[in-house]
Amino acid sequence: MSINIAIDGPAGAGKSTIAKRLAADLSYVYVDTGAMYRAMALYFMEQGIDASEEEKINAGCDKIEITIAYEDGEQKVYLNGSDVSGRIRTEEVGNMASLTSVYVKVRAKLVELQQALAKKTNVIMDGRDIGTCVLPDAQVKIYLTASVETRAKRRYDELLAKGINCDLDEIKKDIEKRDYQDTHREISPLRQAEDAHLLDSSALDIDEVVSAIKKICKEKNLI
Ligand code: DC
Repeated sequence: MSINIAIDGPAGAGKSTIAKRLAADLSYVYVDTGAMYRAMALYFMEQGIDASEEEKINAGCDKIEITIAYEDGEQKVYLNGSDVSGRIRTEEVGNMASLTSVYVKVRAKLVELQQALAKKTNVIMDGRDIGTCVLPDAQVKIYLTASVETRAKRRYDELLAKGINCDLDEIKKDIEKRDYQDTHREISPLRQAEDAHLLDSSALDIDEVVSAIKKICKEKNLI
């Protein structure tokens, strides 16, 4: 049986950085489920479909094939055969992903793919509904969060480092909007699973969060 570690939490909590580090250290496969929602969102955007047009989104779902591949340990996302891993990393695509992930057909398609990946190999999977819905039997569940201020400042620093001009207040507003959407949708909203360990990374660095999760894995005799 494969070992599954689920990491959920709001946008900008550091899930992907932590999950990537853990996956490399433990030789697990890292599965970034947000990238899959982003790839579907990119398709809808390219087709000129608005996030409110459920019928068009449902019809679009039948025309989308999302596949995941690993190149040098990095997850690549393919949308109908094209590598879209770079193009899905914009705020615009992230917001569209948040808005279109509310639909049952979008979620059903991706949950199936995620469960199939976790069945065949040891994974560290991050997202919003992994511990509550995708992998309810995951051996370790983490709910990783941080204050809105911390998350906004981290994103701001990341964008600045990439040479992208941005406004801290705008980023904070965007994060708050996304938190609201992700926690208030009807199907599989973001919430902490009852058996998840809560980790607030506001005052912790990456090493400290990684160590805390490894400690939990050790206590469960997984490593
Ligand atoms: O983690 P991210 O920012 O790449 O995710 C983009 C959006 O996708 C997020 O705002 C909500 C949606 N999402 C989801 O509904 N369920 C997941 N398991 C992962 C992401």
